[in-house]
Amino acid sequence: MRKVKLAKTGEEVSEMCLGTMMFGRSCDEAESAGILSCALDGGVNFLDTAAMYAEGKTEEIIGRSILGRRKEYFITTKVHRGLDEISITGSIEESLKRLRTDYVDLYLIHWPKEGMNPGEIMRSLDKVVKSGKARFVGCSNYPAWLVAYSNSSAKGNGWAELVCNQIPYNLIERGVEVEVLPQALAEEIAITTYRPLVRGLLAGKYGTGEPPAKGSRGNTEIMVEWLKKYGESLRRLFSFSRSRDVTPAQVAISWLRKSPAVTSPIVGVSSLDQFKKSVKAFDFDLADEEYVEVSRMFDSEVKEEAAGEYKNLRRNLFLLEER
Ligand SMILES: NC(=O)c1ccc[n+]([C@@H]2O[C@H](COP(=O)([O-])OP(=O)(O)OC[C@H]3O[C@@H](n4cnc5c(N)ncnc54)[C@H](OP(=O)(O)O)[C@@H]3O)[C@@H](O)[C@H]2O)c1
Repeated sequence: MRKVKLAKTGEEVSEMCLGTMMFGRSCDEAESAGILSCALDGGVNFLDTAAMYAEGKTEEIIGRSILGRRKEYFITTKVHRGLDEISITGSIEESLKRLRTDYVDLYLIHWPKEGMNPGEIMRSLDKVVKSGKARFVGCSNYPAWLVAYSNSSAKGNGWAELVCNQIPYNLIERGVEVEVLPQALAEEIAITTYRPLVRGLLAGKYGTGEPPAKGSRGNTEIMVEWLKKYGESLRRLFSFSRSRDVTPAQVAISWLRKSPAVTSPIVGVSSLDQFKKSVKAFDFDLADEEYVEVSRMFDSEVKEEAAGEYKNLRRNLFLLEER
């Protein structure tokens, strides 16, 4: 597994970031522990989790599973509840207890929120860094302007700056190409990308003819819509993968790796078998002309926004508190 530079931090992490959102949900503790240890043995030390995953169970599972090897991992977790100082400084205490460690490597604001105060957020994150409970701080789901705005307030006050923005990005949701990715390259912000397989859609988990099974992660309105809209594109992706003797998941992840703005795709798995399959994407490189071909397979018009809540945040003129 290749190591990559985590933007300005001077740290190196594995190019694959392991997403743990399914640990404690459809992936039980024994399976999760197996994935964590197999990941580390294969050079994957970059972990992504959050206080809210499985109401704290995910962090607890990680804490128990990596006892004795904690220092070998680079752990990211995210703030729970509000964006005020008490929530930001309190949430890390709870996460550290569950993770059985006295620091995390990267602490992220999980989502912006209407009425937020970037100055208070940056001051609180700085407190967390100064107390030694997080080595670096960052954000998730921030539009580009908010990263710049937050960092200018941090710079002016000598506070820790946001070093990473974690965003949704995949062959279908490409809105971040308009501003978030260029800003990250220009300002040396690390980009970690979640939902690389569109919850399994790009891995071929859901047939293009029938609706996803009840209870599965794919059984959502947007997935049904995507299956209808992208049936033909999916067939093109599957045929391209077959012709290269790789899986569609490998192609979809490798496509993300090719972007110079992407630091690490976050690969979420719910079994060791999925981990072993997806990790192979890091040994498969798309040639330049293949990258262009795959980029055009879905919707070649890159719209300003990604799907879901993200676009409402980007367009929200009342995101910051009244001044
Ligand atoms: N910051 C945020 O707001 C945010 C939001 C979402 C996620 N995340 C992070 O990003 C990570 C990845 O997100 P995601 O889980 O939505 O990513 P994803 O890649 O879109 O979906 C992962 C799902 O795809 C399926 N899958 C994975 N590998 C497969 C394979 N080789 N073959 C067939 N199916 C496969 C599994 O579905 P099944 O489990 O149904 O089998 C797995 O749970 C999460 O674990 C979390 O750490 C962050």
